[in-house]
Amino acid sequence: MGETTIAGYDYGEVKPSPVTREELELLKRSVLFGPEDEAALRRAGEVLGGQVEDVLDVWYGFVGANPHLLAEFSTPEGEPVTAYLERVRGRFGQWIRDTCARPYDDAWLAYQEEIAERHTPEKKNKTDGVTSVPYVPLRYLIALIYPITATVRDFLAKGETPAADVDAMHEAWRKSVIMQVALWSRPYATALW
Ligand code: HEM
Repeated sequence: MGETTIAGYDYGEVKPSPVTREELELLKRSVLFGPEDEAALRRAGEVLGGQVEDVLDVWYGFVGANPHLLAEFSTPEGEPVTAYLERVRGRFGQWIRDTCARPYDDAWLAYQEEIAERHTPEKKNKTDGVTSVPYVPLRYLIALIYPITATVRDFLAKGETPAADVDAMHEAWRKSVIMQVALWSRPYATALW
């Protein structure tokens, strides 16, 4: 996967998650995520694999066009930090591949917690050694589920795939993103999570 060349990508090298496998299973059940979704994500990975940069262009275009989102990649004074945007972009691309191809096991759970912390004062800015605002507001994490889900459909439809399978891949993607943002809400909401 070439992940060793991605700046700041520490999959497999982070501390275990406080979230248990049982809690993960109940979350999967809550979002109706089953083996058929896993299979659909594997197929989605094959369709999206060659289009990752194009997907990122769309998402970065969206963030760049919204000052309240670009602010999280900017200095506290509001100057965008180009190196930060670029380094995170590499990891974001790998996240697309991981979402489709990785088994959702202990290593995956551990990196979920790491991604969560990287959006909070615990870890934000540290991986890239940048000076930026201290956290991403939870409300925006939740809200971005919609664009991050809606925009992949066109890319999924670019494969040689029947419409019914595009639907299956898209639904599996949606479930996974919702589940991941639920996991990422943990450090924001520890007492009541
Ligand atoms: C980091 C995904 C929402 C700002 C990341 C990473 C991923 C990701 C995969 C890199 C993780 C790694 O380091 O390996 C997502 C997804 C979101 C979301 C799927 C919503 C569904 C947001 C929002 C913002 C944001 C709303 C605000 C503009 C950032 C920033 C980083 C980051 C600034 C770098 C954090 C650091 O300093 O390490 N995100 N994100 N994210 N994201 Fe998000």
